[in-house]
Amino acid sequence: MSRLIVISNRVTQASEGKATGGLAVGVHDALHETGGVWLGWNGEVAAEDAPAPIATQQRGNITYATFPLTQRDYDRYYRGFSNAVLWPTFHYRADISRFRREDYEGYLNVNRDFARRLAPLLQPDDVIWVHDYHLMAFGRYCRELGITNRIGFFLHIPFPGPEVFRTIPTHRALAQALCAYDLVGFQTDVDEQAFTDYCVRCLDAVPGAQGLLAQGRRVRTGTYPIGIDPDAVTAMSRTNRSRQVVALKSGLADRKLIISVDRLDYSKGLIERFNAFEQLLEHGPGHRGAVSFVQIAPSSRSDVLGYREIRRELERTAGRINGRWGELAWTPLRYMNRSYERSVLMPLLRASQVGFVTPLRDGMNLVAKEYVAAQPPDDPGVLVLSEFAGAARELEGGALLVNPYDTEGMALALDRALRMPLAERASRYEVLMRRLRAHDLTHWRDTFLADLQSGTKASPQSAGEPAALV
Ligand code: ADP
Ligand code: F6P
Repeated sequence: MSRLIVISNRVTQASEGKATGGLAVGVHDALHETGGVWLGWNGEVAAEDAPAPIATQQRGNITYATFPLTQRDYDRYYRGFSNAVLWPTFHYRADISRFRREDYEGYLNVNRDFARRLAPLLQPDDVIWVHDYHLMAFGRYCRELGITNRIGFFLHIPFPGPEVFRTIPTHRALAQALCAYDLVGFQTDVDEQAFTDYCVRCLDAVPGAQGLLAQGRRVRTGTYPIGIDPDAVTAMSRTNRSRQVVALKSGLADRKLIISVDRLDYSKGLIERFNAFEQLLEHGPGHRGAVSFVQIAPSSRSDVLGYREIRRELERTAGRINGRWGELAWTPLRYMNRSYERSVLMPLLRASQVGFVTPLRDGMNLVAKEYVAAQPPDDPGVLVLSEFAGAARELEGGALLVNPYDTEGMALALDRALRMPLAERASRYEVLMRRLRAHDLTHWRDTFLADLQSGTKASPQSAGEPAALV
């Protein structure tokens, strides 16, 4: 059997427990079953300016092969091009993208460096699975090194419409680089279509049954919505022995609870959500004193432009709402700027009558799925979900879909969720659980890997002529 080699920017080891981010949670759970190697950044910035060697660590059936980034690489590749250009643009925030040519060059250098680090570890039958926007050019460099193994790429975040993608000055080179992969996977058909449309329009690619003919080779595309392990989440949500969960429940008395859990990111629609909660209180006097809203949002990428601002704004808004509506015995909104162990988080989701998940744009959003799986079947809560989360494609019909730009609409949906009779909640829950089971994490991994392995293997010739990336 061939080995699975997973490559991602950040590698998070299982023992760290608090791993935030869909990629960390999804990849770890997926690798846990198959075993294999996980190669990438260990999250540290080296004191030395020279690239540090790989450190390997074996845990169960997973070999972690990690290394630190140099300060320069961190600034240009991670903080710069990945998170100040690709992240905002792919989330339709081209207005806050900050393109600098030296960051882009830094991005390419690190992609090349990842490929060089992988090359000596490879065995001929290894299957390589690359994750997310940090490594769009990695496959191209592997091909330049003569690596002919199957290489698949999965994008965890949205792929923007062609007109938005074109705002990145190096859009063409990036899309060409993606064509060096054998299979490029997306969260939704909308993302896949956007990529195909761009390639047809700007790279003169020709779509066909076997994928896109682009850059002298065939690249297949597919839609693979990432899932969760619903039974594992349900089981974890039941073990609510933790001090925090007990304290929260006793502090609530008979009040209902609305919960949101996100990385502190401007794409998650946190301010809009706070404002919707305020409207609920303003227009629904019955909810005052009867419902609390808990927002858990640990800081993320706090040294990247845009992230410090959102944190300050959130603190201001939370303060204002509590100042206006709070009472001695009731705090309407509790905003926690910290991370929790998943074993605490899942019981918290279970204890909440409404899961309020309203990103302005999101590749998938695993919290939405975790919220559903954490519910008690005999008294489930209601998921209020943004129509701009990838998860909405699957959860439509069970969740209450909202437009996160419509504050009033979100407040009305909260009101409806809080009043929903048990029979309706239960039937919506059943619909949702069926979908989560049909498209769980194993299904995501197995369908992607099966498609990757079923294609024709790349030969040095079919790897295409290395094109200039700058
Ligand atoms: P993203 O990948 O953009 O962060 P997702 O919702 O897809 O968004 O994935 C987030 C993952 O990280 C979920 O599995 C969630 O449980 C976890 N997570 C998010 N916030 C926290 C937190 N405060 N503490 C622990 N885990 C968190
Ligand atoms: O899932 C989206 C994602 O960007 C992952 O690629 C990433 O690991 C995670 O969010 C957390 O972000 P970061 O690694 O920048 O802290």
